[in-house]
Amino acid sequence: MKIRKAVFPVAGLGTRVLPATKAMPKEMLTIVDKPLIQYVYDEAREAGIEHFVFVTGRNKAVIEDHFDRMFELDTTLASRGNKKAEQDVLAENQPPAGATSFTRQQAPLGLGHAVWCARDIVGNEPFAVVLPDELVLNTPGCLKQMIEAAGKLGEKSNLIAVEPVPAELTHQYGICGVGKRTGKIFEVDGMVEKPPKGTAPSNLSITGRYILQPEIFKILETQERGAGGEIQLTDAMITLAKSQAFYGVEFEGERHDCGSKAGFLRANIAFGLKRPELRDGLIAEMKKYLGQ
Ligand code: G1P
Repeated sequence: MKIRKAVFPVAGLGTRVLPATKAMPKEMLTIVDKPLIQYVYDEAREAGIEHFVFVTGRNKAVIEDHFDRMFELDTTLASRGNKKAEQDVLAENQPPAGATSFTRQQAPLGLGHAVWCARDIVGNEPFAVVLPDELVLNTPGCLKQMIEAAGKLGEKSNLIAVEPVPAELTHQYGICGVGKRTGKIFEVDGMVEKPPKGTAPSNLSITGRYILQPEIFKILETQERGAGGEIQLTDAMITLAKSQAFYGVEFEGERHDCGSKAGFLRANIAFGLKRPELRDGLIAEMKKYLGQ
């Protein structure tokens, strides 16, 4: 069944990058010249997603504005005559009318609760979850790779994107165990959210891309708080895995955790170097700072 909808949980407070996120949503932090949220929207659109569901919170209204038209800007750019490139960028970034939904998570109860807030908008069909603070630099994007993988698996399959992390960092992530493997896809053999140091079943971390069956919502409805006192998506997935198939996908591409200061800086460099018009200048500047 086609994956038509993607849920973007964007209610988080962004405490890892304060003070930048005091008055501005972390999803609006820019990598080169685009906000994080635009990158993940583009990734979802490339993957064939038709409806984009944003689970927002207080202080996040600017995300909705970002995906709306800006008439003053459009008219001013059009009247200047030499701003065609800028007009094209805005048009390209713009979702079709009616293709977005915004709902609020009213309290910071965790990722599982945020996804549950989208239940009525998603309805009874499989859907994607995309965490905007994780960017993957690759063409095709991570979600497209996952949807292609899902097409080769049975109906009612769930998929998580995974990436190896150093053993000393496994306690910061959801981690999955590895069962039968076919190339880059494997059967998930157990999952655990933020395992205490030294107890992780593998070094494969759950990254911010999921394809889930709608039965997850029923589980989330009564999901108790887990790691960090939050309602965890991983805990609901553990329950769902008892009745449905779960697969891990080792995707192609470099993952950047832009919700951390170091990851955010690294992403700006990596994405900047991919831009032909910026690359040479950026390399020259970096050499200067590195004293070469
Ligand atoms: C969430 C998930 C976790 C996953 C991580 C990826 O954690 O709960 O399983 O590994 O995203 O970024 P968070 O970073 O919100 O604590």
